[in-house]
Amino acid sequence: MAARGEFSSRMAFVLAASGSAIGLGNIWGFPIKVASNGGGAFVFTYVVLTFLLAYPILMAELIIGRHAKSDTVTSLVKISGSSTKPLAFLTGYWGILTASLILSFYAIVAGWMIAFGLGSAAELLGMNEFKEWLTSFSLYRNLIFVSLFYILTIGIVANGVASGIEKWSTRLMPMLIVLILALIAYISTQNGAAEGWRVYLQPDFSRILNPDLLISALGQAFFSLSLGVGTMMVYGSYISKSENLPKLGATVALMDIGIAFMAGLLVIPAMYVAQANGVTIYNEAGALIDSDGLIFTVLPALFKTMGFAGIIVSLLFFTLMTIAAVTSSISMLEVPVSHAQESHGMSRKSASWAVGTAILATSIIIVFNFGTLFGLVIDLTTKYSEPLIGILFCIFAGWVWQRDSMLKELEQGSPDMQNTLFWKIWPTYVKVVCPVIVLAVFMHSFGLLNF
Ligand code: PHE
Repeated sequence: MAARGEFSSRMAFVLAASGSAIGLGNIWGFPIKVASNGGGAFVFTYVVLTFLLAYPILMAELIIGRHAKSDTVTSLVKISGSSTKPLAFLTGYWGILTASLILSFYAIVAGWMIAFGLGSAAELLGMNEFKEWLTSFSLYRNLIFVSLFYILTIGIVANGVASGIEKWSTRLMPMLIVLILALIAYISTQNGAAEGWRVYLQPDFSRILNPDLLISALGQAFFSLSLGVGTMMVYGSYISKSENLPKLGATVALMDIGIAFMAGLLVIPAMYVAQANGVTIYNEAGALIDSDGLIFTVLPALFKTMGFAGIIVSLLFFTLMTIAAVTSSISMLEVPVSHAQESHGMSRKSASWAVGTAILATSIIIVFNFGTLFGLVIDLTTKYSEPLIGILFCIFAGWVWQRDSMLKELEQGSPDMQNTLFWKIWPTYVKVVCPVIVLAVFMHSFGLLNF
């Protein structure tokens, strides 16, 4: 077997894992959920669930991954006894399937980012009709750009962890942060922004236990941190043994939540600014008119208020968003590819192209049946599969894997582990508290439990 790749430094891992976590989930998905679930109440619940659930489960994935140093299925099998092996296979393959299905809708949205970026370039060149086509929803546009996005993603994964994934993650993420901050500063000068911030920052606490809001926030917390599919387990398997895992995990979680929060500070006011400029955002029943297209409506409306400079800003924004989407999609594709490579002996190149093409075929089916399949696949994967697989990971970390062996794993990067607060709380916490919270939210949303 070829030598396994490893991240070349701590910084490289933090950037790659943050690159996976930070993506369309933060900037496209999060604001949609905030806007559909009453603003601040959603933000509050999402943040609480990230700390209560997502961080502990992120740790479970990273620790198992680094211990086993293999793809997800093999990693889970390695920490299992003979009676739990079937569960390890089931969990591993369910994760692989979920990662692939997530990629299949994610790539469609990422394709829109490329199209909007090119749209701004076309506008700069005075090609207005072409710009119109690029930025309008159509079958052909969606087909072309989703395919382009796959070529980018597959090309990078085919080249391997160290050279492919790191290079992209390390350079461009900081630029995206600076751009969003500059746009937040700009939007504060616009009419309507203050109302947006009020809605975003003032939680209506009477809504936080609403079942739809809770399940949506739960799904968002998992999706945004790339949990419950095995991505973080695979990335964990590329971390060197000398690193302190709890700290690395905390850094990634904080970066991810920080970017989502910033994206909200930009997009929610942008909705109200657009409304003040005559764009209709909500229908009479108070629902978003076009939720999938939210940021593709309100941000271009904002860029337009900047005149010529807005075209450049738009080009930059959508280009950076495309890159943020690539650093996430490569981490999704890495889940099935690392399995095909390590457990089925395929070369990385052929595994990347074979698996990538199969998932592209799924995206094409979704594009042809957009109205029925797009929302359905999103709900099935992010609202249901990810939290459920997350619980299974907790069961592996808390019940299946022997505690001594886990402690030894953690001690490699932090010899004093046994005396840390993390070790005093976390093992029991993932064993009991995390599964109970997830189950309670599920039962609440199905009306089986009232609180
Ligand atoms: N976390 C990514 C985002 O927010 C999406 C993702 C989900 C990536 C699952 C990998 C695995 O965009």
